[in-house]
Amino acid sequence: MRKVVIERPASDFPELIVTVPDSWPHIELAPLYDVHHGHELHSSKMFLRDIDRMATRPYLLSFNGGDLFENAVLGSPGIFSQTSTPHDQFDAAKRIIKPILPKMLFAIPGNHEARTYRFTGFDIARAFAESLGIEYFSDYCFCSIRWRGNVFRLASHHGTGAAQTAGGQRNAARKDMPWLSADLYWTGHLHQPIVDPVYRVDYDSRGRMYTRTSLVIISPSYLKYFGGYAAAKRMAPGMIGMTPVKLLPDGTIEATVSARGKRL
Ligand SMILES: [Fe+2]
Repeated sequence: MRKVVIERPASDFPELIVTVPDSWPHIELAPLYDVHHGHELHSSKMFLRDIDRMATRPYLLSFNGGDLFENAVLGSPGIFSQTSTPHDQFDAAKRIIKPILPKMLFAIPGNHEARTYRFTGFDIARAFAESLGIEYFSDYCFCSIRWRGNVFRLASHHGTGAAQTAGGQRNAARKDMPWLSADLYWTGHLHQPIVDPVYRVDYDSRGRMYTRTSLVIISPSYLKYFGGYAAAKRMAPGMIGMTPVKLLPDGTIEATVSARGKRL
């Protein structure tokens, strides 16, 4: 089977071109957002299970959306909630994601990695990505996925802000839509999952219009709720896990969201 080709053109934009072999029947995209490895509430059982599952899926691709490890530094709210030093978290996270390394397209930083940069000028997220040979971008990554005549445009950022209402979170997720034409707008950070299809149209090279619906996603996190910062601040509990999508040959993007729970 031919391999996925990742090209990073010389550019003023943080762009990446990914070409997937046409022999793939579909593409799964399952990024890592807000894993927070090293936090005492990190759901390591579920995360390790998901890494194992991802490793066995032949048509799955991923990227690191930031806050992969807790990285609490002096003055951080979570300084007493981490179970190991940032250095040990760095090393452990490298070991943990090793099984999915061949599937990683790129990495972007989260606000937790940015803490080190703010105090020292050392970009720990970049060091992490470079130590694993993963393409690194310091804020956005605009990734075009070419496959079977389609170009799926993925716009990724860690996410910003502290929106707590459903409307505020939806607006935060859509923040790049006025200036950027993408098929997938993907952020995390708020730990509140959103999968929001937005109808849009585009024009082909002859000027003819066609439907090009976008999917606006906020990934959940791998942090448990009670006993932590979010519960202390009365931020609503979020889901734990991920919201993977499947790219199909006809251009459709399918998202998987699970509402887990018993119905007694
Ligand atoms: Fe974050």
